[in-house]
Amino acid sequence: MHHFQYKGKALYCEDVPVADIAARMGTPLYLYSHATLVQHFKAFDGAFEGMDHLTCFSVKSNSNVAILKLFAKEGGGMDIVSAGELFRALRAGVDPRKIVYSGVGKKEADLEYALSSNILLFNIESVQEIRKLNEIAAGMGIKAGVSFRVNPDVDPKTHPYISTGLKENKFGIDIKEAVDHYKMASGLSNVAVKGVSCHIGSQLTQVSPFVDALKKVEGLIDDLAGEGIKIEFLDLGGGLGITYDKETPPNPKDYAGSIENELGGRGIKLILEPGRVIMGNAGIFVSRVLYTKSSGEKNFFVVDGAMNDLMRPSLYNSFHAIQEVNLSGRETVKADVVGPICESGDFLAKSREMKRLEPGELIAVMSAGAYGFSMSSNYNSRPRVCEVMVKGDRFYTIRSRENLEDLVRGEVIPEFLMGEN
Ligand code: LLP
Repeated sequence: MHHFQYKGKALYCEDVPVADIAARMGTPLYLYSHATLVQHFKAFDGAFEGMDHLTCFSVKSNSNVAILKLFAKEGGGMDIVSAGELFRALRAGVDPRKIVYSGVGKKEADLEYALSSNILLFNIESVQEIRKLNEIAAGMGIKAGVSFRVNPDVDPKTHPYISTGLKENKFGIDIKEAVDHYKMASGLSNVAVKGVSCHIGSQLTQVSPFVDALKKVEGLIDDLAGEGIKIEFLDLGGGLGITYDKETPPNPKDYAGSIENELGGRGIKLILEPGRVIMGNAGIFVSRVLYTKSSGEKNFFVVDGAMNDLMRPSLYNSFHAIQEVNLSGRETVKADVVGPICESGDFLAKSREMKRLEPGELIAVMSAGAYGFSMSSNYNSRPRVCEVMVKGDRFYTIRSRENLEDLVRGEVIPEFLMGEN
């Protein structure tokens, strides 16, 4: 359920016509519905209410500080993968004791920053990393809470670029070698081994891979208990999928239910790292048609949004529904919706059956709340777009559109190039 619905012929976000926002703010833009965000967070978090758990929103899916603040207010923690994401989470007032930090390549300065911020857990992805963390924590005279991120070698049955829990992926440590690593880690003076974590992939549309991974992790927890190593936290990562087109992913209740069944009465605190399932359908990308043209059979609708603003179609060939912001009642045609960037890979939709569009009209690219703005770039020197949040009958800018000066911020012409051309 989301709050982007038609009233008459006009698409609304909650109680505001999308066209009014586009007229005021310009296009392209990202638009989020507050009510949808809250509803999705509560539905996910509430599904686990019978279990001791912490929902850590995955900052990479949408890192706007207003969004993070909203989830922090709902009691959420954060899953971070960089110092930048830590900075954002802290800026949003997230309790550091609700922050978990994954990532295969944390640098010394990143580890120091997270240690001094007193985060809950480091999800360690290699033996060298835990040794480095131990050394830095010793230098600071503190003890770091850690989990090993294990790679359970389970096929998540999703796009290969967003599979993470297979042996061939770079993430985590081999679950078969994990007991040895835990034993070694228990001997380190400045880390406290507290958890096990795993994340097998994203946009999963079945529960079974999660349960398979959980079974393997439980096996490890039992083996560790046999060695006298007690695990307090089990972090199952994120990954629950959403409907972009015709997918039928499990709902959070079914997902939570299967996990609860499998875990039974284990006295362990569950950590979850959802991103897409909360954000995805709570945001749209709004763009305006610039030109239309056809070459033979092919129709092109050239819009002002491009692959730098929303990379998913170009990068993963992923499907995003495209809706008219004002229903025209025109005939259906087959078209490519393309942006202004100088690459054939710059498209938002290919060979899509859709209503014929005319210049000046607006489209809504649906399900764009997750991995939309957060993956955007300045490619082709396009200022990054603004982000707007609607609450009821009002809307708020939560990130201003970049201007031309923003594009060259930090760039310097060295002295030897100065002077007349
Ligand atoms: N935890 C970890 C350690 C992760 O690596 C990820 C996502 C998540 C949680 C959140 O997963 P989610 O619940 O959102 O599926 N850019 C891609 C998705 C990459 C996901 C990377 N990791 C896309 O646009 O589909």
